[in-house]
Amino acid sequence: MTKKVIITGVPGVGKTTVVNEALKKLKEEGVEYQPINFGTFMFEVAVTEGIVRDRDQMRTLDRPIQKRLQQLAAQAIAKISGNVLIDTHASVKTPRGYLAGLPEWVLREIMPDIIILVETDDDQILMRRLSDETRMRDKEGSRSIAEHQQFNRSIAAAYAMVTGCTIKIIVNPDHLLEHAASEMADVLR
Ligand code: AP5
Repeated sequence: MTKKVIITGVPGVGKTTVVNEALKKLKEEGVEYQPINFGTFMFEVAVTEGIVRDRDQMRTLDRPIQKRLQQLAAQAIAKISGNVLIDTHASVKTPRGYLAGLPEWVLREIMPDIIILVETDDDQILMRRLSDETRMRDKEGSRSIAEHQQFNRSIAAAYAMVTGCTIKIIVNPDHLLEHAASEMADVLR
């Protein structure tokens, strides 16, 4: 049976890093997943339409535009068959408040089996963001990052109610990437 798994976590928590390590392990065992980045699907449409120049600008777009980009991404991703691993956000912090990353119109298209929340200490996320010069990360303190992680747990419960999926929390602390990747690989097997 194929699986649809959604990976979420606040920006800078290291979800993409953990996914890449977990997929390497699974490949050695012959377990294949197609990794999909939800933001990339949205970004390609946004760039083609000339709405944004970099992916971090998407968070600041008007809500109806973000909704349209989400819908187009969800419809395209729903057509992909086999085991899929979708790297996205449980919620997106916008200048006007939290935007649901997986609203009903996205969930009904994708109908995930599992949603994984990657988390770690707020201070570690802050340090990872500060040391990443490749991105325009939001400037926020530990307290604000903690609030976002808490909000993601709450909204994930609502997603489980709509889809019947399970919610798995994986911690990705400094120096323990290998442990987090093993835990993710166990969930994906
Ligand atoms: P997206 O591309 O997902 O952006 P992001 O959240 O910034 O994701 P990243 O992949 O950059 O962060 P990450 O936490 O995975 O970090 P990384 O592995 O690089 O989305 C882009 C945009 O698309 C969003 O802003 C939004 O606008 C839009 N979008 C996406 N989905 C959407 C949706 N559903 N609805 C609406 N909009 C949506 O790691 C970070 C750093 O940590 C690295 O330097 C890494 O080396 C380090 N690190 C990782 N693990 C460890 C460890 N264990 N120890 C020490 N360092 C570590």
